[in-house]
Order: sequence, then C-alpha cells, then structure tokens
Amino acid sequence: MSEHSANPSATAATGRPRAVKAVIPAAGLATRFLPATKAVPKELLPVVDRPVLQYIVEEATQAGINDVLLITGRGKTSMVDHFDRRPDLEAKLEEKGDTERLAAVQRPSELAEIYTCRQPEQLGLGHAVGYAESHVGDQPFAVLLGDEFVKMDEPLLPAMLELQARTGGVVLAFFEVDPADTKRYGIASVEPAEPEFSDIAEVVKVTGLVEKPKPEEAPSNLAVLGRYVLPGKIFDAIRRTEPGSGGEIQLTDAMEILRNEGTPVHAIVYRGTRYDTGMPLGYLQTVVQIAAEREDLGPEFRKWLVEFVNSDASAGPGR
Ligand code: G1P
Repeated sequence: MSEHSANPSATAATGRPRAVKAVIPAAGLATRFLPATKAVPKELLPVVDRPVLQYIVEEATQAGINDVLLITGRGKTSMVDHFDRRPDLEAKLEEKGDTERLAAVQRPSELAEIYTCRQPEQLGLGHAVGYAESHVGDQPFAVLLGDEFVKMDEPLLPAMLELQARTGGVVLAFFEVDPADTKRYGIASVEPAEPEFSDIAEVVKVTGLVEKPKPEEAPSNLAVLGRYVLPGKIFDAIRRTEPGSGGEIQLTDAMEILRNEGTPVHAIVYRGTRYDTGMPLGYLQTVVQIAAEREDLGPEFRKWLVEFVNSDASAGPGR
C-alpha cells in the first residue's frame, strides 16, 4: 500500500492537507458552439457516448476528489440531471437484462457528490470561482475548467495536489503552445523550481502571469492549462481583482495579486495529451482520438477513418 492510499488527504512531506474538493466553472454561454449550445450546455456535448463533463468529473475522482461543485448558470440545469439517478430508465434496462447499459447509466451518479451554485451574471472566470467560497471555505481546492480534460492514463491532478500540499501556494499546469496562439491563454514567465520538488514532476516556479497577451507581448509560450489547485485565500484576492482582459474578472489576475504579495506559485509542465473541447476543431479532434482509442469502437472506426482520409470524399469542398 502506498503512503497516499493509506492517508489520501495529507502529504507525508509536510503533513499539510491535500485539496479534497473540486470546483468546475460551467456557467459560460459557449458562443463558439452556437447554435448547438442554444439549448444544450456545451459541457453536455457528447464525446462518443459520454458528455464532456463526465470525463472531467472522472478526472477529479481518479485523483481522489469526490466532492465536486458545479458553478452553473441559466439554462444549464440538465448538467446536474446527468449526475442524478434515473430509476425509471434503470428499471427498464434491468427488465431487459441490459446490464452493460444499466451500469453506464448508473455510473455518473456514483462518481462523486455533486453540488451546485449559480453564477447569476457571467463576469469572468475569476468571478465564477468566487462563488465557490461558501462551499470551499479556507481550504485548498482544485479548479477544473469545463471544456478540457487530459488523457486518463496520463493524469495530471495527483501531482498538482501533492505539489500544492507541499508549497501551500498556488499550483498551475502549463502546456506549450504555438507562439502565435498566446492570445487565447494565460501565459507565464518562469524560473527553475526549488530542487526539493523534482521528485514530483517537471515543476517550474512562476515569476509572472498575464492573461491572453499578444504574441509580441507574451513572456513565453507556456500556457495555463485549465487545472488549478488554489489556496483558500484566492477568494479574498478575487474580491480585489479589477476587470482585466475582455473586461472580465480574470482568475489569472487574482493569482497574480497573490504572487505579488508573496504566495508561492508553481506549475507542472504537462507533456501528456490534453483534449480541448471548447472550440469546434478541438472538439472534433477529441471525439476522433477518443473513438479511435476505444476498445469496442476503435478497430472498426480506425479502419473506416483511414479509408475516408484516403478517399476523394475527404478532399473537401472545391474538388
Ligand atoms: C481560461 C483562462 C486562461 C487559460 C485557459 C485554458 O481562458 O482564463 O488563462 O489559459 O482557460 O483553457 P478561456 O478559455 O476561458 O478563455
């Protein structure tokens, strides 16, 4: 038995508790997906046969977090229904002896304790996270953005939780982007981290953060990935954060306040597979990759895909 499974909520190195709650901001309007998202929350768009949000909750539970707060907004209550029981449907499947589908229908309700709160106006990611304060209190917690997730067998969160329990500060994850794309992300400047963290992962110390800089103003090509482990004092910093990029209250700016006041900010450079379902192209790529890797569908789908790519039909309009 590892030390973590013996005592999953504390790290041996400091005795400081690990974050045990996750917050998923999911109140956004998803304009990039209109009209599909006019009546369906983008978090419920399917990736093969599970909604995006289920992959995200599974990522949290895989890391030992089973208390999940969804920050929702108008027209998004069906997200919560997905994690509820459906006794009528379950009874029908049981009657038919369809145990496989029965298990698939029950699974979301068994993953985690799901709580919700409403963000009445969409004033930015920092503003959304601010609504988690009464649920989270002064304890550290994870934030998982509702439109991206990482490959199940290349997990990121466990190392982030361990690092946060050791530093007590802010822990982020970065991935490298094309320098032309910096205006889509929070971008960091970094220096080497203290050697004591080298056993955890590829860790860097953050020396600056800027939200969505133009390529010529970006301090690096290290972009903030949608996973954060934050100390409870972030809420006070959010209250003091002025509107920033896009006129919104940015989480990046709140973290920058804490960093300037002396809170350590570290990040893990993630070199695994990140799925970004926030835009149509990334969403399509996610569906194709996950379908191709599925044991049940994969072999047939990959065969078809190769044929399709090599056929005239895949050459697109204009041919
Ligand atoms: C948000 C954050 C940004 C981060 C990005 C990751 O931006 O504000 O710092 O890099 O998520 O996906 P959004 O995608 O909400 O515009």
